[in-house]
Amino acid sequence: MAETLKWGILGCGRVARQAVGPGIQRSANGNIVAAGSRSREKARAFAADFGASRAHGSYADLIADPEVEAVYVALPNSMHCAWTIRAAEAGKHVLCEKPLAANAGEATQMAAACRRHGVTLMEAFAHTFHPHNRMARRLIEEGRIGRLQRIAAVHSGGRPPDDDVRLSAELAGGALMDKGCYCINTARYLFAAEPLSVYATAEFGETSRVDERLVATLEFPGGGIAQFETSLTLADNQQYSQGCEIFGERGRLFLPYAYSQVATYRFGREVETALHIFQDDIESPREEKLIFDGVHQWHLQVEYFAARVLAGLPLELPAEDGVANMRVIDAIYDRAGMRMRGA
Ligand SMILES: NC(=O)c1ccc[n+]([C@@H]2O[C@H](COP(=O)([O-])OP(=O)(O)OC[C@H]3O[C@@H](n4cnc5c(N)ncnc54)[C@H](OP(=O)(O)O)[C@@H]3O)[C@@H](O)[C@H]2O)c1
Repeated sequence: MAETLKWGILGCGRVARQAVGPGIQRSANGNIVAAGSRSREKARAFAADFGASRAHGSYADLIADPEVEAVYVALPNSMHCAWTIRAAEAGKHVLCEKPLAANAGEATQMAAACRRHGVTLMEAFAHTFHPHNRMARRLIEEGRIGRLQRIAAVHSGGRPPDDDVRLSAELAGGALMDKGCYCINTARYLFAAEPLSVYATAEFGETSRVDERLVATLEFPGGGIAQFETSLTLADNQQYSQGCEIFGERGRLFLPYAYSQVATYRFGREVETALHIFQDDIESPREEKLIFDGVHQWHLQVEYFAARVLAGLPLELPAEDGVANMRVIDAIYDRAGMRMRGA
């Protein structure tokens, strides 16, 4: 069994440079061997910064590179499907950025193509690797807060520049695609089920035509409810609002930094986080705070992916989980009145 996975980076933008590239560099079982960009200069700069020996001036050349074993797709959402399928056809494993595609139909095609070509496909939801999220699910499974009743979450940021991919309808941007998708993923993970129905309302930008603010309610089997707000409308780029409160019939959990370790993403700093446990007994209310040392969640993510691929083992959350998440995104957009995403 090979000891390291040879990665190729498809698209040398923000997340590749700030989060996943550094994650692969830290990993014990992976190396970046090549970078691919629309611009050879940009690919060269990325390759130089991350110790890769080759730089390709097109995505097709990166995929055709025989040394590349796994492709990290860090492209705008509307391009995930086509390039994942092309990578699968070339026999490469794929770690694809979230959300998996522009819609569930595309995500289904991606999962099928990867299955057909015998390669692994995983949606890059790095927060699922943070130990505090694992602990929240464990506490729920152990009955620490009783039967799960409701999740209330927020994941929002400031308005990006007008030409940012997140404000492009053609590139399948929008607040739900950028940030709200994390709230859906966590709710499905904690309820360990798919929602039966959704309700949603959104504000669409007049020029962007994407959802810049969206509120949704998901109803799970047994009456469980998840509600969240997601937006790109906070005051400025310094503002980032996130949190997930989980209500059970005997107590509640609170994860203030449930989705993104923003200080790590932006500045490379690992910061400790907490999981708060409240037992709301009226006579003797208790609060416990579990402290988690800072981790680099993108490092944990790529190391896990490489370990599974190298060992030929299945993923805990396979590509079909990403397809299921996309189905919920589709249902929310339908409900909120947006029917077209992507080219
Ligand atoms: N997991 C996370 O923590 C996280 C965080 C942020 C974003 N994301 C996801 O990562 C993906 C990329 O987001 P990002 O924030 O990194 O975006 P970004 O900085 O705009 O980078 C996207 C890259 O895609 C390539 N690209 C190809 N066609 C493009 C077009 N028409 N317009 C703009 N870029 C184009 C460019 O790479 P080249 O110029 O090199 O070809 C560009 O640098 C999205 O799916 C997003 O949802 C994930």
